[in-house]
Amino acid sequence: MDKLKVMTIFGTRPEAIKMAPLVMELERRNEIESLCCVTAQHRQMLDSVLDIFHLTPQFDLDIMEPRQTLSTITSKCLLGLEKVFQEVRPDLVLVHGDTSTTFAGALAAYYQQIAVGHVEAGLRTWDKYSPFPEEMNRSLVGRLADLHFCPTEANRRNLAAEGITKGVYVTGNTVIDALNTTVRKEHRFTSSELNELDYNGKKLLVVTCHRRENYGEPMEQIMSALRAIAERYADQVELVYPVHLSPVVQEAAHRHLDGLDNVHLIDPLQADEMHNLMSRSYLVLTDSGGLQEEAPALGKPVLVLRRETERPEAVEAGTVRIAGTRAEDIINMTAELIESKAAYETMAHAVNPYGDGCACRRIADAILYHFGRADRPPEPFASR
Ligand code: UD1
Ligand code: UDP
Repeated sequence: MDKLKVMTIFGTRPEAIKMAPLVMELERRNEIESLCCVTAQHRQMLDSVLDIFHLTPQFDLDIMEPRQTLSTITSKCLLGLEKVFQEVRPDLVLVHGDTSTTFAGALAAYYQQIAVGHVEAGLRTWDKYSPFPEEMNRSLVGRLADLHFCPTEANRRNLAAEGITKGVYVTGNTVIDALNTTVRKEHRFTSSELNELDYNGKKLLVVTCHRRENYGEPMEQIMSALRAIAERYADQVELVYPVHLSPVVQEAAHRHLDGLDNVHLIDPLQADEMHNLMSRSYLVLTDSGGLQEEAPALGKPVLVLRRETERPEAVEAGTVRIAGTRAEDIINMTAELIESKAAYETMAHAVNPYGDGCACRRIADAILYHFGRADRPPEPFASR
């Protein structure tokens, strides 16, 4: 029997981190020919992940432009992928999550009548403008996909509420698979700035912020809150913020946060460095999706710099709180966690609602089952 041709498509940093362990799992399966196409919606931040996981894609569309718009990303991906699919004709295309690459990848495959598998399916806020455009990307891919790999049971229920019940598997999130390979107690950072931080004497706050719906006033509020926190706790806190390469984010972060001794605005970190930094942190402040999943697994409290989240599981488990985007709220919630040991301890416990490290195995098993190459579907992931 011919091997199944499975093509994995991704373009941004988080997709790459979460797809890398899946690509490696697909490569281990004898029944599968694994092919990888990157759109390079991100360039440097993508290459950094490819490098750390030793991945060499067979196709690279190299689409990134400075200050790119949603339309340029989507149209360049559609045109580039059309050519790739006509050349290769995969049996299945896998896309991940909710970016413009994800949406364009699923749509381009649908246009060629190629089956689509959606990894990290079923997350919803039910607000089409938040996160923007990710909520709509995810919903549209849900309609286009044939296979849906939901991290959690709640994600499966979200799809069921939209009438999507066929080809749905609860697998856990592949990010936990990735995290299991990167965090090491003895990790040495490549930069002396990070190696020399006083991890025992100071409270390390790890910050990231990049979302499009936070551009403008919400980002102004977030950055001014970060400055106020750094100033108020100058002798207690070190704030490390690897700044996303988006010029919008770079400008806002440097304008508000330059010139403070305990604020470290650094270049984006390689994934393993970021994971190890978080594992040594006191608290994570972020609008990132991935960090909301990783930090709870590492036992680190998270304040989410957004008005809502499509990842409610860790909020329910008590390790994540929604801080919103008003400076006053962010300052007050951070101050409570810095000053009150009791408040901190109630949040700082490791939970794993998003996965058990076996998501990639389940996804590969489900693919083989779907194509009649295995007798049984995988056991669903159940969070304990
Ligand atoms: C994108 C995703 C978002 C995801 C985020 C992860 C969309 C619409 N947005 O948002 O869902 O959370 O990635 O980080 O798909 N840039 C560089 N080098 C890089 C990466 C980005 O210079 O390696 C700059 C470019 O000027 C680029 C800009 O950042 O135009 C914005 O990148 P883009 O992918 O459009 O948006 P993100 O905010 O990164
Ligand atoms: N990350 C990284 N280096 C950084 C910041 C984040 O490797 O400097 C990782 C982080 O650990 C997580 C992923 O990037 O795995 C999250 O990506 P991002 O916040 O860009 O996107 P989102 O998850 O919000 O879509």
